[in-house]
Amino acid sequence: MDENIVWHQHGVDKQKRQQQNGHKSCILWFTGFSGSGKSTIAGALEAKLFELGQHTYLLDGDNVRHGLCGDLGFSDADRKENIRRVGETAKLMVDAGLIVLTAFISPFQEERDMVRNLVGEAEFIEVYLETPLATCEQRDPKGLYKKARAGEIAHFTGIDSDYEVPCNPELTLDTSTQDIDGCVAQLIAYLRGKNIIG
Ligand code: PPS
Repeated sequence: MDENIVWHQHGVDKQKRQQQNGHKSCILWFTGFSGSGKSTIAGALEAKLFELGQHTYLLDGDNVRHGLCGDLGFSDADRKENIRRVGETAKLMVDAGLIVLTAFISPFQEERDMVRNLVGEAEFIEVYLETPLATCEQRDPKGLYKKARAGEIAHFTGIDSDYEVPCNPELTLDTSTQDIDGCVAQLIAYLRGKNIIG
């Protein structure tokens, strides 16, 4: 960064926004294979939080790749840049006082840790969707595993691109054995337990 760029501290800050919102802000970072249930669980949780009057925003991999990250593909370098941009965006949203939900495969530990360090330990909740690859492939909601097996998509996570299992996630969910309502209830209980929501 240029040495002539100086941080400007504004009067309305995160703490004031959180006070006005009536809850703390944080990131719920969902990670797992394509088809593991990241978007489904994040979407159901956001709907529940919205119903409870909380201020939320869901950043979803497929959607973000339509705009902010539309120039990126699925090489390791592009995935890292994808997560860097999303991490910075999510950090701004945490500063804005929101409960941010993110649904990205985010296959590498280093990038997930980079976002954790960016926002701080207390505001980063890593949620690992440990739904087995075989189940994800069986679901194949977008037909992408079939294409990857046929060699029509390169660098597909779990097929010919790595997924590093989270070392120490705050929560682990498996949508092959837990239903959506059960997962949402577990997440809400976690947020209440940490006094993020009332
Ligand atoms: S990453 O690894 O975090 O940068 O990926 P992400 O931004 O979450 O994008 C994953 C969605 O892109 C679709 N897709 C692929 N996924 C994995 N590997 C390859 N090669 C690929 N090509 C397209 C896929 O629909 C993913 O969506 P989800 O919601 O995970 O199923």
